Amino acid sequence: MSEKITKPRGTQDFLPEKAELLMFINESATKFFQNYGYRPIITPTFEKEDLFKRSIGESTDIVQKEMYEFEDKGGRKLALRPEGTASVVRAYIENNLQALAKPAKLYYIGQMFRYERPQAGRYREFWQMGIEAIGSSDPALDAEVVELCYKYLSSLAIKEMVLKINSMGCRDCRGDYIKELKKYLDGKEQELCKTCAQRIETNPLRVFDCKQESCKQVLTDSPKILDYICEADKEHFEKVRSLLDAVKIKYVLDSHLVRGFDYYTRTTFEVLLPSLGAQNALAGGGRYDYLIEDYSGPKEPAIGFAFGTERIMLALESQKISVFTKPNLDAFVIWIEQAQKQNAYETTSYLRDKHFNVIMGLEGRSLKAQLKLANKMQARTALIIGEDEVKTKSVTVKYLETGEQEKLALEQVVDKLRKQVDS
Ligand code: HAM
Repeated sequence: MSEKITKPRGTQDFLPEKAELLMFINESATKFFQNYGYRPIITPTFEKEDLFKRSIGESTDIVQKEMYEFEDKGGRKLALRPEGTASVVRAYIENNLQALAKPAKLYYIGQMFRYERPQAGRYREFWQMGIEAIGSSDPALDAEVVELCYKYLSSLAIKEMVLKINSMGCRDCRGDYIKELKKYLDGKEQELCKTCAQRIETNPLRVFDCKQESCKQVLTDSPKILDYICEADKEHFEKVRSLLDAVKIKYVLDSHLVRGFDYYTRTTFEVLLPSLGAQNALAGGGRYDYLIEDYSGPKEPAIGFAFGTERIMLALESQKISVFTKPNLDAFVIWIEQAQKQNAYETTSYLRDKHFNVIMGLEGRSLKAQLKLANKMQARTALIIGEDEVKTKSVTVKYLETGEQEKLALEQVVDKLRKQVDS
């Protein structure tokens, strides 16, 4: 016997109930994004490997350990996208989107791929929804992006979220900080994991991404980036904070929040739900003021964020929040004999044209069996079409909750169904 085929490790099947919730999140977040002026962009799920290496950074965990890289049949080095920002920036430059009104506001929905060790809330294929606002360094844009992220998650009634923010400064002042951090870490190699010990030389900021307790411990007393940022960056960050205060968004400052990508500058933020355990980040983002020019694009500062849809689903589940109710099945159409099947088909089609949710029984089963099926599908009514109904151009409507029934002309059925929808 051949071996049973199962899904690859770290992936998930979204069965209808879960898939409906995912679609609901996609739709509700889209409305929020549109509300703030964002328009959709769709980019490929795989790109040239170099795109991610150059933008996310060679020494990040994502590039070093987590990329799904492959060579296609033409020998091209490609990678499944681990995130959306790099692709949006590539598309922005490649398609000359700088012609759009500034800031260009773009949002995306899609699967991302990271070769991580799977655990609750961490998958190798997962969904993200994200936004990117390109072409402005105005602190009001930072505040707006953070606000949008936090308000959307709050709109789902998720409780006890923590919004963390930080400023990583611009490239000029970052250099001073990195020097200090390196000085602090030098000599502590023994206390760090092997990868982090190497990072002291290559990219000390990345030590902050390490999940190992010993490395976290070493960083407790490390110099704070906020103490090193320049006056202009301080002023920028103050403005972001005062705007967030003005719209009563509560946040905590976290000077260790440098996030696992090399492209970030100035404002960075994350929304956490501590009760979720190890994988508790619902969303994260920040500014990336040099990424576009680093790709030989125009000098355009930008900011964005992405949230992980599965993590939101876990948050809803853990707090027993139901944001979504399955649409009702308005009617289940039953025909008694083959001779009435066409009439039943036409009736079903007619009612769907009137926007009712209708299913027609297919195989010629007994009335009893079809009523059982209608109940199983939680239809509100069964519409029975037998010889007599065809002759008298009528339909027998059986209300499945009460068991009552009546024979009505099709137009009257429409009225009844409509009343049922409105009730
Ligand atoms: P990120 O923090 O890597 O940022 O991912 C954003 C969110 O995706 C996380 O907060 C988390 O909810 C979810 N996520 C990440 N990895 C996984 C995983 N393995 N399984 C399930 N969910 C996951 C970015 O990707 C940036 N591109 C965000 C951004 C946009 N920054 C600027 N613009």
